[in-house]
Amino acid sequence: MSATLLDGKKLAAEMRAEIARQVADLKADRGVTPGLGVILIGTDPASTSYVTAKERACEEAGMFSLDVRVPAETTQEEALALVCRMNDDPRVHGILVQLPLPRHIDEAAVINAIAPEKDVDGFTPVNVGRMMIGETCFLPCTPHGIIQMLLKTGVQTAGQHAVVIGRSNIVGKPVAHLLMRKAEGGNATVTVCHTGTRDLATHTRQADILVVAAGRPGTVTGSMIKPGAVVIDVGVNRIPDASKKNGFRLVGDVDAASVSEVASLLTPVPGGVGPMTITMLLANTLEAARRL
Ligand code: GUN
Repeated sequence: MSATLLDGKKLAAEMRAEIARQVADLKADRGVTPGLGVILIGTDPASTSYVTAKERACEEAGMFSLDVRVPAETTQEEALALVCRMNDDPRVHGILVQLPLPRHIDEAAVINAIAPEKDVDGFTPVNVGRMMIGETCFLPCTPHGIIQMLLKTGVQTAGQHAVVIGRSNIVGKPVAHLLMRKAEGGNATVTVCHTGTRDLATHTRQADILVVAAGRPGTVTGSMIKPGAVVIDVGVNRIPDASKKNGFRLVGDVDAASVSEVASLLTPVPGGVGPMTITMLLANTLEAARRL
């Protein structure tokens, strides 16, 4: 079998065009321009490149983007003050603090400071709690983007066995929850694997849908896949590559060459989950502005 590549870039472009139309309507009807405030602390190259992509997408959708970039030496108090300023800024409907933060800053305290009604990443305890009990909330962008991808490509999740590799707060835990919840794009039977899992392949071979968010290239190879499985690769890893102008290339967490021989659908890296994450961020920011 040769897997079909699930084109997240194309799907994201279609969804972003619709979001841009709705942004224009909101401006025309109510004079409101949705605004996203982004806080980047430090100069980590991957984070800088994500944040730049988010800001560009915002502007392309006709949204206001407030970009605050501060040095890695920023103190905890200064970080909290930046969040509070955005909480109080009427131009900003959604706030995103790019993670990870430098080690001397308490990530939980900074996330907790974001006003839940502006928490378009869905990371605050209030939003996470609402998601868990099925109340209206902002869903975290990568997990929500994955569910939208499955829905829009007609992948059936109900009754399927979904296996998630990874238990982070950003991807693993929430995507497992969305896949199992009683809702469209859910109703799957979910297994969560992590660094404490024994014999990973025993689990992955049972997956009709496999979501890999391990943060390590080559975590899954073709021999670990059930024939015909749908494989969602969430990894974004930089591999040194002297033939590239910037000196690296991006690869996911799965060995795409061998996995695509066995899977039916596979998300490429880059161009798979990544563009969908940003699209869901735009959708949440639009929703935050509408709720005003
Ligand atoms: N770092 C990696 N992914 C994300 C994300 O979705 N949101 C934020 N704020 N930081 C991240």
